[in-house]
Amino acid sequence: MIAPLTSAVRGQPLPSIAEPVIEVRDLTKRYGRNIVHQHLNFDVKRGEIVSIVGGSGSGKTTLVRQILGLERPSSGTILVFGEDTSKIDPEAAHLMRSRSGMLFQQGALFSSLSVFDNIAQPLRELGKIPDDLLRDIVMLKLEMVGLPCKHASKMPAALSGGMIKRVGIARAIALEPELLFLDEPTAGLDPRASDEFVELISSLHRALGLTVVMVTHDLDTMVALSTRVAVLADRKVLVAAPVEEAANVDHPFIREYFLGLRGRRALQALPPERRAKLPPAALEPASSELPL
Ligand SMILES: Nc1ncnc2c1ncn2[C@@H]1O[C@H](COP(=O)(O)OP(=O)(O)OP(=O)(O)O)[C@@H](O)[C@H]1O
Ligand SMILES: [Mg+2]
Repeated sequence: MIAPLTSAVRGQPLPSIAEPVIEVRDLTKRYGRNIVHQHLNFDVKRGEIVSIVGGSGSGKTTLVRQILGLERPSSGTILVFGEDTSKIDPEAAHLMRSRSGMLFQQGALFSSLSVFDNIAQPLRELGKIPDDLLRDIVMLKLEMVGLPCKHASKMPAALSGGMIKRVGIARAIALEPELLFLDEPTAGLDPRASDEFVELISSLHRALGLTVVMVTHDLDTMVALSTRVAVLADRKVLVAAPVEEAANVDHPFIREYFLGLRGRRALQALPPERRAKLPPAALEPASSELPL
């Protein structure tokens, strides 16, 4: 099931990449003696789709939570839309958050609320919105993520994993955010649902001019969607570049992640002009390590 939006925006130019919307400078984050980030720098410009990759526990979710203001840095600064997140007053912080949407790694939906009420929740938080307008907005968001209206009254427990992610995205875009954060959006999805997810995000990216920051372990999704990939290792962003450039960095995590069997397979999806920039090790046949 592909959203009608996909055909509507096919052929539209990609959003142009302009000013920075996220600027993380010299960030350090500690939990007790555990130093998660140290002297970390990271930028995202408007119109980009940046994937954050890194080993489990490397601090991907923690970085996103700090950018969203849900977690405080130990030191360093984070600017979002040019505002220092540690210095703005509560009203400005609220406004800034309303310009961002988030699909969390865990607990994408409120289990006690219907699909309709889950999507309506950020709109209701805004204050008084007439019921008929609220209904129209929720139905429009459902349509945008490719879900028939008949699912609006269902409870999350009655939905498949892929449908839950779609409703989570519908809720994340309820307020028409400029910036969308997705934490492991394809985890638990089968390959077909992951492909549909890629279609959905690229359609929303084009239709809404969204900037997307996505944490993912899923190499195929990362290769298909990212304008740049940020590799988190050694407590910092080791490199943030188009995937073919990042794959050239000499580091154990990069060798394992990009140049292993799965990585080489995923990189085959790059267009030839980008594949030509990959290191030779990435071009070795991906089938040579297959068990006989
Ligand atoms: N609230 C917290 N209190 C203490 N330690 C925390 C907290 N949140 C995260 N950590 C620690 O910070 C480190 C990074 O965690 P984080 O969840 O950001 O990793 P991740 O890269 O998202 O991992 P995964 O790929 O498994 O989701 C881990 O060592 C984790 O134990
Ligand atoms: Mg995480």
